[in-house]
Amino acid sequence: ASGCRIGPSILNSDLASLGAECLRMLDSGADYLHLDVMDGHFVPNITFGHPVVESLRKQLGQDPFFDMHMMVSRPEQWVKPMAVAGANQYTFHLEAADNPGALIKDIRENGMKVGLAIKPGTSVEYLAPWANQIDMALVMTVEPGFGGQKFMEDMMPKVHWLRTQFPSLDIEVDGGVGPDTIHKCAEAGANMIVSGSAIMRSEDPRSVINLLRNVCSE
Ligand code: DX5
Ligand code: ZN
Repeated sequence: ASGCRIGPSILNSDLASLGAECLRMLDSGADYLHLDVMDGHFVPNITFGHPVVESLRKQLGQDPFFDMHMMVSRPEQWVKPMAVAGANQYTFHLEAADNPGALIKDIRENGMKVGLAIKPGTSVEYLAPWANQIDMALVMTVEPGFGGQKFMEDMMPKVHWLRTQFPSLDIEVDGGVGPDTIHKCAEAGANMIVSGSAIMRSEDPRSVINLLRNVCSE
């Protein structure tokens, strides 16, 4: 895909230095930040919520784009708090939403972009009816909950199908994406690339980010 953007996931960074880790990613050429919110209910792990996002916004200034990956059971509950905290995009899980249409509307009214995510077990057909109302579809390439898992190549047909049906839709992949798997994502048509451990554990994050963007944009 042309114009691929790279969004590091800071889940596997040193969370005691979250602000510094985000700055390190931005200094290394990150196009946006993918911030993983987990509630210990929708997924078996807990991270952080809107108070931390508010602090990050204060520290990092207005420019960085915050893509909130909301792995929470009641996504409608955090729309306003996240908007107030300074989130730019609110990506919720279709599996967790009672009323996706109302949620999409609420996210927009709160001035954020709309992302809609599906877990590996969720068929892309369930996302399709909403595709014309959202800014971005997130096709999970691992079971959400933890960084450092193995990329699920069998999710690529979902990405490819979405790309053919909705040529101008932003399509994000998340989970196990790095230098070894980026070409599959690019081939399928993803243009927003989340990468956590592959970037975080590298001694040269800038070169990994550049490599991912170059391979993806070819
Ligand atoms: C997993 C999170 C991902 C994760 C990606 O539930 O949504 O964003 O941090 O990390 P890697 O790239 O290590 O799979
Ligand atoms: Zn994520």
